[in-house]
Amino acid sequence: MTEGHRPAAAEVFDAIGADYETAFAGSGAHLDSLNRLLGQLAPHSGILDVGSGTGRPTARTLAAAGHEVLGVDVSPVMVELASHRVPEASFRCADIREFPLEEESFDAVCVYFSLLQMSRDEQRALVHRLAGTLRPGGHLVLATVPLDVEDVSTVFMGQEVRVTSFGPEAFRALVTGAGLTVVHEADTVFTPSRPGAAPEPHLFLHCRR
Ligand SMILES: C[S@@+](CC[C@H](N)C(=O)[O-])C[C@H]1O[C@@H](n2cnc3c(N)ncnc32)[C@H](O)[C@@H]1O
Repeated sequence: MTEGHRPAAAEVFDAIGADYETAFAGSGAHLDSLNRLLGQLAPHSGILDVGSGTGRPTARTLAAAGHEVLGVDVSPVMVELASHRVPEASFRCADIREFPLEEESFDAVCVYFSLLQMSRDEQRALVHRLAGTLRPGGHLVLATVPLDVEDVSTVFMGQEVRVTSFGPEAFRALVTGAGLTVVHEADTVFTPSRPGAAPEPHLFLHCRR
């Protein structure tokens, strides 16, 4: 991470920590998405998990199936939690926007709900770069909250955050603009397991290079 610059997402997710998993890990759509990906991977695939959070359910599910998982997360608290919860995967604490990635080095890349604290240009640029890290035929799985909002202030799990996202059409266009083909999508509503939580829309896109 650049000296003296601490991304807002690091502050927010350091404060939320394990509570994120309690609230969100029960998403059936997230587990379905992981199972769909698992069904398409060759044994011992190399997988990058962007914004790996506590490591559950994503890194744990994929590593338990024998794949080689590298999780990258900007929050030191999340990386510490994930390293303990999923010792069979590797985790690095870094801002994915600055993290060096080799071309054609992964069989799959997962991005579950980790774009929302980036600007629209940053989200586009990152998805484009992630597409390039996939081997030909590789899988990119993205999940987001598909709302047409830009730098809006809100409170998420007790933390003030600024959120940027895209509506469903614009999000699909972002992915196809990166040269990927959407092969499956699931548009769902999920209510986090947390007192007073409101239902939120979740969009999962499964894409191939
Ligand atoms: C909403 S949580 C989702 C965690 C996990 N992907 C899941 O679905 O369970 C978003 C995660 O992305 C991480 N994150 C946000 N911006 C990031 C960035 N620029 N680089 C790396 N990680 C980031 C946060 O620290 C947080 O752990």
